[in-house]
Amino acid sequence: MKPLYALGLGALALACLSPLPVAGGTNIPDSAPLIDSNGKLVFPTNYREWVFLSSGLDMSYSPDAAMAGQHIFNNVFVPRAAFEAFLKSGTWPEGTVLVLENRSAATNQSILKHGQIQTDEVVGLSAHMKDSRLKDGWGFYSFEADRKPATEIPHDAACYSCHQAHAAVDTTFVQFYPTLMPIAANLHTLSAAYLAESSPKH
Ligand code: HEC
Repeated sequence: MKPLYALGLGALALACLSPLPVAGGTNIPDSAPLIDSNGKLVFPTNYREWVFLSSGLDMSYSPDAAMAGQHIFNNVFVPRAAFEAFLKSGTWPEGTVLVLENRSAATNQSILKHGQIQTDEVVGLSAHMKDSRLKDGWGFYSFEADRKPATEIPHDAACYSCHQAHAAVDTTFVQFYPTLMPIAANLHTLSAAYLAESSPKH
């Protein structure tokens, strides 16, 4: 594995383990994300009303980076208009914003004796936006605890290289979004990088 894998979503989530209070942000009614006058992405307060793509538990991309103690779920959401466009075309329209929420897990709650549930503690929020004005057409954003508008993460960050090298469709991890993967496969929109990586090795 390349050292790049050392930075996983789990590590990202653990880096900001303080819960995010519900404050600030703007309701984004449709697929159009809100870029403010400083070029920052305004937090979409209503992202939980968007289409849910999938959850991951304790996702890590390093073979030896097991999560100690604290378990984290990832939840991914996209506005309905972008989701519907994907169903037709197998890829994302201009202006799509996907939100990744990291939420702490818990066990031994109520009647639960085994397994993990998601708690009300959000420990990380980031976004991936398709915008042709940005380098390579996509930008990453990470929201702080105050959920103030987020600055685009510089393009030398590992976010970009990992998503470009391994994501199945248009730098998004559609291989982990089970309702979208068959659509992309049928419409032949899987990336060359993904196809090369997932084809049987000789
Ligand atoms: C080592 C690879 C890797 C790195 C580095 C990485 N990600 Fe991802 N990212 C993933 C995977 C895998 C998923 C799918 C998550 C899931 O299924 O829950 C994902 C999903 C996402 C999503 C949901 C939309 C999409 O594109 O699929 C966002 C938003 C996101 N990552 C933001 C970031 C940000 C911000 C950074 C850098 C600070 C980052 N990621 C770094 C692997 C990576």
